[in-house]
Amino acid sequence: MKKEAVLDYFIWNSELVSTEKMSIFDEISPQSVYEVMKVVEGIPLFFGEHMDRMHKSLKALGIKLSKSKDEILYEITRLVEKNNCRSINVKLVYDKGKSGKPHFLTYFIKGEFPQESAYNEGVHTILFHGERETPNIKTLGGSFKEQVQKAREREGAYEALLTDKEGNIAEGSRSNVFFIKEDGLYTPPGKNVLLGVTRTHVMRLCEQLGIMVKEELINKSELEHLLGAFITGTTVDVLPVGSIDDIQLSTMENQQMKTLIKAYNEEMKRDIQKTKVILQEKNFL
Ligand code: PDD
Repeated sequence: MKKEAVLDYFIWNSELVSTEKMSIFDEISPQSVYEVMKVVEGIPLFFGEHMDRMHKSLKALGIKLSKSKDEILYEITRLVEKNNCRSINVKLVYDKGKSGKPHFLTYFIKGEFPQESAYNEGVHTILFHGERETPNIKTLGGSFKEQVQKAREREGAYEALLTDKEGNIAEGSRSNVFFIKEDGLYTPPGKNVLLGVTRTHVMRLCEQLGIMVKEELINKSELEHLLGAFITGTTVDVLPVGSIDDIQLSTMENQQMKTLIKAYNEEMKRDIQKTKVILQEKNFL
């Protein structure tokens, strides 16, 4: 696995290790289970939900995590302090280990954060034919990710939307996708996608705001008739799409889009505040 920990330290099986000594990453297999969380003001966003998903992914593979949520929360705050960095992405990796001794890594990664202007203008995306084998499980995966990255770089696209054999769009390579139509939002059904923590929050907010969300596949032949589209994910939050291949979308003119971005930003603030109180109570801060 790529030695992708950034800044000065990472944590391997509860031990603080210098990023100059990342040889342990060579032992991590592509089948390992991982999570990525955003750290905002030194606090992991939507921590509980990310941990629940990690436990679910592990359970699907017959693994029970022995590390507690509190231990992981502590490790993240320790890295915030030791690396002296309060806004970044943190990655958790569980690998069952070749010799039966599991590895658990907690480390900061370089997130490909969109530029601030992208939230007003929308990002360029491309269609890419490819399906993840077990969409509900967050495993590291191999060459597929690299192929997508090459295609994105070639086309100057921030994200690739993955299509199946029939030309239906399931998800972004690193995000979930929503399409805006006259009567509301459309997003691919849960069984076809990685159930994004951001996606869940967006759907809940839509319910509160009275915005209809239908879980239904959208075919690439329908793209021209859309009012807009956006992607959701840990790194991007709620990010408008300005174009898909050569189809231009006026996503940012859509009022529902603006309302949703605002509501999501408020939701993030609430969650950070909630976790901050928990961290203070536990004396982790
Ligand atoms: N990716 N779909 C896929 C295939 C993903 O890899 C991700 C997240 C998402 C969005 O999930 P969430 O809202 O929970 O971040 C959807 C992470 C950030 C990554 O791979 O780095």
